[in-house]
Amino acid sequence: MEHIRIGYIEGDGIGSEITSAMKAVVAAAVKASYGQKKQIEFVELLAGQKALAQTGSSLPDETIAYIQEHKVAIKGPLATAVGQGQRSLNVELRQRLDLYTCLRPVEYYDGVPSPLKRPELIDMVVFRENTEDIYAGIEWDADTDEAKTVISFLTDRMGVDKIRFPHSSSIGVKPVSKEGSERLIRSAIDWALKNQRRSVTLVHKGNIMKYTEGGFRRWGYELAQREFGAQRRDDGSIAIPRSGMEDLLINDCICDAFLQNILIKSDAYDVIATLNLNGDYISDALAAGVGGIGIAPGANINWESGHAIFEATHGTAPDIAGKDMANPLSLILSSAMMLSYLGLDEAERRIRQAVRQTIAEGSVTADFYHAMAKEGRSATLLGTRSYADRLIALL
Ligand code: NAI
Repeated sequence: MEHIRIGYIEGDGIGSEITSAMKAVVAAAVKASYGQKKQIEFVELLAGQKALAQTGSSLPDETIAYIQEHKVAIKGPLATAVGQGQRSLNVELRQRLDLYTCLRPVEYYDGVPSPLKRPELIDMVVFRENTEDIYAGIEWDADTDEAKTVISFLTDRMGVDKIRFPHSSSIGVKPVSKEGSERLIRSAIDWALKNQRRSVTLVHKGNIMKYTEGGFRRWGYELAQREFGAQRRDDGSIAIPRSGMEDLLINDCICDAFLQNILIKSDAYDVIATLNLNGDYISDALAAGVGGIGIAPGANINWESGHAIFEATHGTAPDIAGKDMANPLSLILSSAMMLSYLGLDEAERRIRQAVRQTIAEGSVTADFYHAMAKEGRSATLLGTRSYADRLIALL
Protein backbone atom coordinates (compact mmCIF):
# COMPACT_ATOMS: atom_id res chain seq x y z
CA MET A 1 0.00 0.00 0.00
CA GLU A 2 1.19 3.53 -0.87
CA HIS A 3 0.94 5.95 2.07
CA ILE A 4 0.54 9.57 1.02
CA ARG A 5 1.32 11.97 3.87
CA ILE A 6 -0.54 15.26 3.87
CA GLY A 7 0.09 18.01 6.41
CA TYR A 8 -3.00 19.83 7.58
CA ILE A 9 -3.62 22.98 9.57
CA GLU A 10 -6.91 22.69 11.37
CA GLY A 11 -7.60 26.43 11.54
CA ASP A 12 -9.42 28.64 14.04
CA GLY A 13 -13.16 29.06 14.68
CA ILE A 14 -15.07 26.54 12.53
CA GLY A 15 -11.70 25.11 11.42
CA SER A 16 -11.80 21.99 13.60
CA GLU A 17 -15.33 21.08 12.43
CA ILE A 18 -14.74 21.46 8.70
CA THR A 19 -11.26 19.90 8.85
CA SER A 20 -12.54 16.79 10.56
CA ALA A 21 -15.32 16.52 7.94
CA MET A 22 -12.81 17.00 5.10
CA LYS A 23 -10.39 14.35 6.42
CA ALA A 24 -13.16 11.76 6.67
CA VAL A 25 -14.38 12.52 3.13
CA VAL A 26 -10.87 12.36 1.64
CA ALA A 27 -10.13 9.04 3.35
CA ALA A 28 -13.42 7.60 2.04
CA ALA A 29 -12.86 8.90 -1.50
CA VAL A 30 -9.34 7.47 -1.66
CA LYS A 31 -10.53 4.13 -0.31
CA ALA A 32 -13.45 3.99 -2.76
CA SER A 33 -11.16 4.88 -5.67
CA TYR A 34 -8.03 2.85 -4.96
CA GLY A 35 -9.04 0.19 -2.42
CA GLN A 36 -5.97 -1.15 -0.59
CA LYS A 37 -3.50 0.43 -3.05
CA LYS A 38 -3.35 3.95 -1.61
CA GLN A 39 -4.01 5.55 1.74
CA ILE A 40 -3.86 9.17 2.85
CA GLU A 41 -2.20 9.79 6.18
CA PHE A 42 -2.96 13.22 7.65
CA VAL A 43 -0.27 14.88 9.79
CA GLU A 44 -1.33 17.82 11.95
CA LEU A 45 0.68 21.04 11.57
CA LEU A 46 0.18 23.80 14.10
CA ALA A 47 -0.78 27.36 13.18
CA GLY A 48 -3.12 30.02 14.54
CA GLN A 49 -4.64 30.09 18.01
CA LYS A 50 -3.97 26.41 18.73
CA ALA A 51 -0.29 26.90 17.87
CA LEU A 52 -0.08 30.02 20.02
CA ALA A 53 -1.56 28.20 23.00
CA GLN A 54 0.72 25.15 22.61
CA THR A 55 4.01 26.68 21.45
CA GLY A 56 3.84 30.43 22.06
CA SER A 57 4.07 31.12 18.33
CA SER A 58 1.10 31.36 15.96
CA LEU A 59 3.21 30.09 13.06
CA PRO A 60 5.92 27.74 14.38
CA ASP A 61 9.00 27.14 12.24
CA GLU A 62 8.25 23.39 12.28
CA THR A 63 5.05 24.01 10.31
CA ILE A 64 6.87 25.90 7.57
CA ALA A 65 9.71 23.34 7.58
CA TYR A 66 7.25 20.45 7.16
CA ILE A 67 5.55 22.06 4.16
CA GLN A 68 8.91 23.03 2.70
CA GLU A 69 9.99 19.39 2.83
CA HIS A 70 6.71 17.62 1.95
CA LYS A 71 5.40 20.30 -0.47
CA VAL A 72 1.63 19.83 -0.20
CA ALA A 73 -0.66 20.80 2.70
CA ILE A 74 -4.26 21.78 3.36
CA LYS A 75 -5.53 24.36 5.82
CA GLY A 76 -8.66 25.64 7.52
CA PRO A 77 -9.22 29.38 8.07
CA LEU A 78 -6.95 31.38 10.41
CA ALA A 79 -8.09 34.46 12.32
CA THR A 80 -6.47 37.84 11.69
CA ALA A 81 -7.13 40.91 13.82
CA VAL A 82 -8.10 43.99 11.74
CA GLY A 83 -6.07 47.19 12.14
CA GLN A 84 -3.65 45.77 14.73
CA GLY A 85 0.01 44.86 14.48
CA GLN A 86 -0.47 41.15 13.75
CA ARG A 87 0.09 40.24 10.10
CA SER A 88 -2.21 37.76 8.42
CA LEU A 89 -0.87 34.22 8.87
CA ASN A 90 -2.33 33.40 5.45
CA VAL A 91 -0.29 36.14 3.82
CA GLU A 92 2.75 35.05 5.84
CA LEU A 93 2.44 31.42 4.67
CA ARG A 94 2.04 32.50 1.03
CA GLN A 95 5.07 34.77 1.21
CA ARG A 96 7.39 32.46 3.13
CA LEU A 97 6.74 29.58 0.74
CA ASP A 98 6.57 31.93 -2.28
CA LEU A 99 3.16 30.52 -3.25
CA TYR A 100 2.69 33.05 -6.01
CA THR A 101 -0.57 31.81 -7.52
CA CYS A 102 -3.84 31.91 -5.64
CA LEU A 103 -5.93 29.56 -7.76
CA ARG A 104 -9.69 29.91 -7.43
CA PRO A 105 -11.90 27.85 -9.75
CA VAL A 106 -15.46 29.18 -9.80
CA GLU A 107 -18.11 26.86 -11.15
CA TYR A 108 -21.77 26.31 -10.49
CA TYR A 109 -23.17 23.11 -8.98
CA ASP A 110 -26.71 22.65 -10.19
CA GLY A 111 -29.27 23.52 -7.51
CA VAL A 112 -27.03 25.68 -5.28
CA PRO A 113 -28.96 28.83 -4.25
CA SER A 114 -27.61 31.87 -6.10
CA PRO A 115 -28.56 35.55 -6.35
CA LEU A 116 -28.03 35.40 -10.13
CA LYS A 117 -30.65 34.51 -12.73
CA ARG A 118 -28.28 32.25 -14.66
CA PRO A 119 -25.43 31.18 -12.35
CA GLU A 120 -24.74 28.17 -14.57
CA LEU A 121 -23.10 30.57 -17.05
CA ILE A 122 -20.21 31.14 -14.62
CA ASP A 123 -17.30 28.82 -15.26
CA MET A 124 -14.06 30.65 -14.56
CA VAL A 125 -10.67 29.96 -13.05
CA VAL A 126 -8.99 32.90 -11.34
CA PHE A 127 -5.18 33.13 -11.14
CA ARG A 128 -4.54 35.81 -8.53
CA GLU A 129 -0.97 37.03 -7.98
CA ASN A 130 -0.23 36.25 -4.37
CA THR A 131 3.07 37.81 -3.30
CA GLU A 132 3.13 41.42 -4.47
CA ASP A 133 0.94 44.48 -4.80
CA ILE A 134 -0.38 46.35 -1.80
CA TYR A 135 -0.44 42.98 0.03
CA ALA A 136 3.34 43.05 0.38
CA GLY A 137 2.53 44.68 3.72
CA ILE A 138 4.78 47.73 3.25
CA GLU A 139 2.84 50.47 5.00
CA TRP A 140 3.17 52.91 7.85
CA ASP A 141 0.58 54.41 10.13
CA ALA A 142 -0.11 58.16 10.01
CA ASP A 143 1.98 60.26 12.40
CA THR A 144 4.75 57.67 12.83
CA ASP A 145 8.36 58.67 12.18
CA GLU A 146 8.47 56.13 9.34
CA ALA A 147 5.43 57.62 7.58
CA LYS A 148 6.86 61.13 8.00
CA THR A 149 10.24 59.98 6.60
CA VAL A 150 8.65 58.39 3.54
CA ILE A 151 6.39 61.39 2.94
CA SER A 152 9.26 63.88 3.21
CA PHE A 153 11.37 61.71 0.85
CA LEU A 154 8.51 61.79 -1.65
CA THR A 155 7.85 65.51 -1.35
CA ASP A 156 11.44 66.80 -0.91
CA ARG A 157 13.45 64.38 -3.06
CA MET A 158 10.96 63.10 -5.63
CA GLY A 159 9.01 66.33 -6.15
CA VAL A 160 5.68 64.69 -5.32
CA ASP A 161 2.98 67.30 -4.71
CA LYS A 162 -0.08 65.06 -4.91
CA ILE A 163 -0.39 63.88 -1.32
CA ARG A 164 -3.55 65.74 -0.36
CA PHE A 165 -2.97 65.73 3.43
CA PRO A 166 0.77 65.03 3.91
CA HIS A 167 0.72 65.66 7.67
CA SER A 168 -1.91 63.05 8.47
CA SER A 169 -1.45 60.41 5.77
CA SER A 170 -0.74 56.75 6.33
CA ILE A 171 1.45 55.49 3.50
CA GLY A 172 1.53 52.16 1.66
CA VAL A 173 3.76 50.90 -1.14
CA LYS A 174 2.50 48.85 -4.10
CA PRO A 175 5.32 46.82 -5.67
CA VAL A 176 4.43 45.08 -8.95
CA SER A 177 7.34 43.49 -10.80
CA LYS A 178 7.87 42.20 -14.30
CA GLU A 179 9.09 38.81 -12.97
CA GLY A 180 6.17 38.51 -10.56
CA SER A 181 3.59 39.41 -13.19
CA GLU A 182 5.17 37.19 -15.83
CA ARG A 183 5.32 34.03 -13.72
CA LEU A 184 1.67 34.43 -12.74
CA ILE A 185 0.49 35.13 -16.29
CA ARG A 186 2.70 32.34 -17.67
CA SER A 187 1.08 29.84 -15.29
CA ALA A 188 -2.41 31.02 -16.28
CA ILE A 189 -1.68 30.66 -20.01
CA ASP A 190 0.03 27.29 -19.48
CA TRP A 191 -2.94 26.04 -17.48
CA ALA A 192 -5.43 27.34 -20.07
CA LEU A 193 -3.57 25.56 -22.87
CA LYS A 194 -3.28 22.28 -20.94
CA ASN A 195 -6.93 22.35 -19.96
CA GLN A 196 -8.17 23.40 -23.41
CA ARG A 197 -9.82 26.61 -22.22
CA ARG A 198 -11.11 29.39 -24.50
CA SER A 199 -9.41 32.54 -23.28
CA VAL A 200 -7.15 34.23 -20.74
CA THR A 201 -8.23 37.71 -19.61
CA LEU A 202 -5.75 40.04 -17.89
CA VAL A 203 -7.76 42.04 -15.35
CA HIS A 204 -6.11 45.28 -14.18
CA LYS A 205 -6.61 48.93 -13.33
CA GLY A 206 -3.93 50.18 -15.70
CA ASN A 207 -5.93 53.24 -16.73
CA ILE A 208 -5.21 54.73 -13.27
CA MET A 209 -2.08 52.91 -12.03
CA LYS A 210 -0.12 53.03 -15.26
CA TYR A 211 3.18 51.47 -14.23
CA THR A 212 2.01 48.87 -11.72
CA GLU A 213 -1.32 47.59 -13.08
CA GLY A 214 -0.58 48.96 -16.57
CA GLY A 215 2.77 47.15 -16.41
CA PHE A 216 1.00 43.90 -15.54
CA ARG A 217 -1.14 44.22 -18.69
CA ARG A 218 1.76 45.16 -20.98
CA TRP A 219 4.11 42.44 -19.64
CA GLY A 220 1.26 39.95 -20.06
CA TYR A 221 0.75 40.66 -23.75
CA GLU A 222 4.50 40.74 -24.38
CA LEU A 223 4.93 37.38 -22.65
CA ALA A 224 2.04 35.82 -24.60
CA GLN A 225 3.73 36.88 -27.84
CA ARG A 226 7.31 36.06 -26.87
CA GLU A 227 6.82 32.72 -25.09
CA PHE A 228 3.58 31.37 -26.54
CA GLY A 229 3.59 32.79 -30.09
CA ALA A 230 0.44 34.89 -29.65
CA GLN A 231 -0.41 36.82 -32.81
CA ARG A 232 -2.69 39.68 -33.73
CA ARG A 233 -5.54 38.37 -35.89
CA ASP A 234 -7.40 40.13 -38.72
CA ASP A 235 -10.17 41.26 -36.38
CA GLY A 236 -7.59 42.94 -34.10
CA SER A 237 -7.78 40.34 -31.31
CA ILE A 238 -4.68 38.58 -29.97
CA ALA A 239 -4.58 34.78 -29.78
CA ILE A 240 -2.26 31.80 -29.41
CA PRO A 241 -2.69 29.42 -32.36
CA ARG A 242 -3.51 25.77 -31.46
CA SER A 243 -3.63 22.82 -33.77
CA GLY A 244 -6.91 20.96 -33.92
CA MET A 245 -8.84 23.50 -31.90
CA GLU A 246 -9.69 27.18 -31.74
CA ASP A 247 -6.95 29.66 -30.85
CA LEU A 248 -6.55 30.64 -27.20
CA LEU A 249 -7.70 34.24 -26.98
CA ILE A 250 -5.63 36.66 -24.86
CA ASN A 251 -7.48 39.84 -23.89
CA ASP A 252 -7.73 42.29 -21.02
CA CYS A 253 -10.37 44.14 -19.05
CA ILE A 254 -10.31 47.03 -16.58
CA CYS A 255 -11.26 45.70 -13.15
CA ASP A 256 -14.33 47.87 -12.50
CA ALA A 257 -15.81 47.00 -15.91
CA PHE A 258 -14.97 43.36 -15.24
CA LEU A 259 -16.92 43.39 -11.98
CA GLN A 260 -19.98 44.65 -13.89
CA ASN A 261 -19.52 42.23 -16.76
CA ILE A 262 -19.43 39.13 -14.57
CA LEU A 263 -23.01 40.00 -13.61
CA ILE A 264 -24.35 40.98 -17.03
CA LYS A 265 -22.42 38.63 -19.32
CA SER A 266 -21.07 35.91 -17.04
CA ASP A 267 -20.11 33.57 -19.89
CA ALA A 268 -17.79 36.11 -21.55
CA TYR A 269 -14.82 35.07 -19.40
CA ASP A 270 -12.89 31.89 -18.82
CA VAL A 271 -9.39 31.99 -17.27
CA ILE A 272 -8.54 35.20 -15.40
CA ALA A 273 -5.04 36.47 -14.55
CA THR A 274 -4.97 39.39 -12.16
CA LEU A 275 -3.07 41.23 -9.45
CA ASN A 276 -3.39 40.56 -5.75
CA LEU A 277 -5.97 43.12 -4.59
CA ASN A 278 -8.18 42.86 -7.69
CA GLY A 279 -8.01 39.10 -7.35
CA ASP A 280 -9.19 39.25 -3.76
CA TYR A 281 -12.34 41.21 -4.70
CA ILE A 282 -12.98 39.27 -7.90
CA SER A 283 -12.70 35.83 -6.29
CA ASP A 284 -15.28 36.62 -3.61
CA ALA A 285 -17.64 38.41 -6.03
CA LEU A 286 -17.55 35.40 -8.36
CA ALA A 287 -17.94 32.97 -5.45
CA ALA A 288 -21.08 34.85 -4.35
CA GLY A 289 -22.60 34.18 -7.78
CA VAL A 290 -22.22 30.42 -7.48
CA GLY A 291 -23.31 29.98 -3.86
CA GLY A 292 -20.95 31.98 -1.70
CA ILE A 293 -17.63 31.47 0.03
CA GLY A 294 -19.06 28.43 1.86
CA ILE A 295 -18.59 26.40 -1.35
CA ALA A 296 -15.66 28.13 -3.12
CA PRO A 297 -12.41 26.14 -3.13
CA GLY A 298 -8.92 27.57 -3.43
CA ALA A 299 -5.21 26.80 -3.48
CA ASN A 300 -1.93 28.69 -3.20
CA ILE A 301 0.68 27.25 -5.50
CA ASN A 302 4.25 27.72 -6.66
CA TRP A 303 4.24 25.81 -9.94
CA GLU A 304 8.05 25.64 -10.18
CA SER A 305 8.87 24.34 -6.69
CA GLY A 306 5.65 22.31 -6.46
CA HIS A 307 4.75 23.75 -3.04
CA ALA A 308 0.99 24.09 -2.61
CA ILE A 309 -1.42 24.84 0.21
CA PHE A 310 -5.06 24.05 -0.46
CA GLU A 311 -7.48 26.01 1.70
CA ALA A 312 -10.97 26.99 2.72
CA THR A 313 -11.57 30.39 1.15
CA HIS A 314 -13.87 31.72 3.87
CA GLY A 315 -12.87 32.94 7.33
CA THR A 316 -13.22 31.43 10.77
CA ALA A 317 -16.97 32.26 11.01
CA PRO A 318 -16.85 32.96 14.77
CA ASP A 319 -20.65 33.48 14.81
CA ILE A 320 -21.31 29.79 14.06
CA ALA A 321 -18.15 28.16 15.46
CA GLY A 322 -18.79 25.09 17.61
CA LYS A 323 -22.44 24.87 16.53
CA ASP A 324 -22.14 22.12 13.89
CA MET A 325 -23.58 24.57 11.34
CA ALA A 326 -20.61 25.30 9.07
CA ASN A 327 -20.68 24.27 5.44
CA PRO A 328 -17.55 22.15 4.93
CA LEU A 329 -17.74 22.31 1.12
CA SER A 330 -15.10 24.98 0.53
CA LEU A 331 -12.50 22.84 2.29
CA ILE A 332 -13.84 19.57 0.83
CA LEU A 333 -13.75 20.90 -2.74
CA SER A 334 -10.25 22.27 -2.03
CA SER A 335 -9.24 18.78 -0.92
CA ALA A 336 -10.60 17.48 -4.25
CA MET A 337 -8.33 19.99 -6.04
CA MET A 338 -5.46 18.73 -3.88
CA LEU A 339 -6.15 15.11 -4.82
CA SER A 340 -6.08 16.05 -8.49
CA TYR A 341 -2.82 17.99 -7.94
CA LEU A 342 -1.38 14.76 -6.45
CA GLY A 343 -2.52 12.79 -9.49
CA LEU A 344 -5.44 11.14 -7.67
CA ASP A 345 -7.98 12.24 -10.28
CA GLU A 346 -10.41 9.42 -9.66
CA ALA A 347 -10.80 10.41 -5.98
CA GLU A 348 -11.33 14.03 -7.06
CA ARG A 349 -13.97 13.01 -9.58
CA ARG A 350 -15.83 10.95 -6.99
CA ILE A 351 -15.90 13.75 -4.43
CA ARG A 352 -17.25 16.25 -6.95
CA GLN A 353 -19.86 13.76 -8.12
CA ALA A 354 -21.00 13.08 -4.55
CA VAL A 355 -21.21 16.84 -3.86
CA ARG A 356 -23.37 17.24 -6.98
CA GLN A 357 -25.66 14.48 -5.73
CA THR A 358 -26.14 15.94 -2.24
CA ILE A 359 -27.12 19.28 -3.68
CA ALA A 360 -29.45 17.73 -6.26
CA GLU A 361 -31.24 15.75 -3.52
CA GLY A 362 -31.33 18.82 -1.23
CA SER A 363 -29.13 17.43 1.57
CA VAL A 364 -27.43 20.66 2.69
CA THR A 365 -26.04 22.65 5.64
CA ALA A 366 -27.82 25.64 7.20
CA ASP A 367 -26.47 28.32 4.83
CA PHE A 368 -27.90 26.59 1.75
CA TYR A 369 -30.96 25.30 3.60
CA HIS A 370 -32.16 28.80 4.53
CA ALA A 371 -31.39 30.19 1.06
CA MET A 372 -33.32 27.30 -0.52
CA ALA A 373 -36.26 27.91 1.84
CA LYS A 374 -36.37 31.54 0.68
CA GLU A 375 -36.67 30.25 -2.89
CA GLY A 376 -39.56 28.01 -1.79
CA ARG A 377 -37.55 24.80 -2.24
CA SER A 378 -37.68 21.95 0.21
CA ALA A 379 -34.42 20.55 1.54
CA THR A 380 -33.03 18.44 4.36
CA LEU A 381 -31.05 20.36 6.98
CA LEU A 382 -27.80 18.64 7.95
CA GLY A 383 -25.06 19.59 10.39
CA THR A 384 -21.40 19.79 9.32
CA ARG A 385 -20.67 16.22 10.38
CA SER A 386 -23.89 14.66 9.12
CA TYR A 387 -23.38 16.38 5.76
CA ALA A 388 -19.94 14.76 5.56
CA ASP A 389 -21.51 11.42 6.50
CA ARG A 390 -24.00 11.79 3.64
CA LEU A 391 -21.14 12.46 1.21
CA ILE A 392 -19.28 9.41 2.54
CA ALA A 393 -22.37 7.24 2.07
CA LEU A 394 -22.58 8.39 -1.55
CA LEU A 395 -18.87 7.77 -2.09
P1 NAI B 1 -16.00 34.82 7.57
O1 NAI B 1 -15.81 34.21 6.23
O2 NAI B 1 -15.43 34.09 8.72
O3 NAI B 1 -17.57 35.00 7.85
C1 NAI B 1 -18.43 35.79 7.04
C2 NAI B 1 -19.85 35.23 7.12
O4 NAI B 1 -19.90 34.01 6.37
C3 NAI B 1 -20.27 34.86 8.54
O5 NAI B 1 -21.66 35.14 8.67
C4 NAI B 1 -20.04 33.37 8.61
O6 NAI B 1 -20.91 32.69 9.51
C5 NAI B 1 -20.32 32.93 7.18
N1 NAI B 1 -19.51 31.75 6.82
C6 NAI B 1 -18.18 31.72 6.58
N2 NAI B 1 -17.80 30.48 6.29
C7 NAI B 1 -18.89 29.70 6.36
C8 NAI B 1 -19.14 28.32 6.18
N3 NAI B 1 -18.15 27.48 5.86
N4 NAI B 1 -20.39 27.86 6.34
C9 NAI B 1 -21.38 28.69 6.65
N5 NAI B 1 -21.23 30.00 6.84
C10 NAI B 1 -19.99 30.51 6.70
O7 NAI B 1 -15.42 36.30 7.48
P2 NAI B 1 -15.11 37.35 8.63
O8 NAI B 1 -16.18 37.31 9.66
O9 NAI B 1 -14.86 38.60 7.91
O10 NAI B 1 -13.75 36.90 9.26
C11 NAI B 1 -13.60 36.16 10.48
C12 NAI B 1 -12.13 35.85 10.66
O11 NAI B 1 -11.67 34.98 9.62
C13 NAI B 1 -11.21 37.07 10.66
O12 NAI B 1 -10.26 36.91 11.68
C14 NAI B 1 -10.55 37.02 9.30
O13 NAI B 1 -9.29 37.62 9.29
C15 NAI B 1 -10.45 35.52 9.08
N6 NAI B 1 -10.36 35.14 7.65
C16 NAI B 1 -9.51 34.14 7.33
C17 NAI B 1 -9.41 33.71 6.04
C18 NAI B 1 -8.47 32.58 5.73
O14 NAI B 1 -7.92 31.97 6.63
N7 NAI B 1 -8.27 32.23 4.47
C19 NAI B 1 -10.20 34.30 4.95
C20 NAI B 1 -11.11 35.32 5.40
C21 NAI B 1 -11.17 35.73 6.71
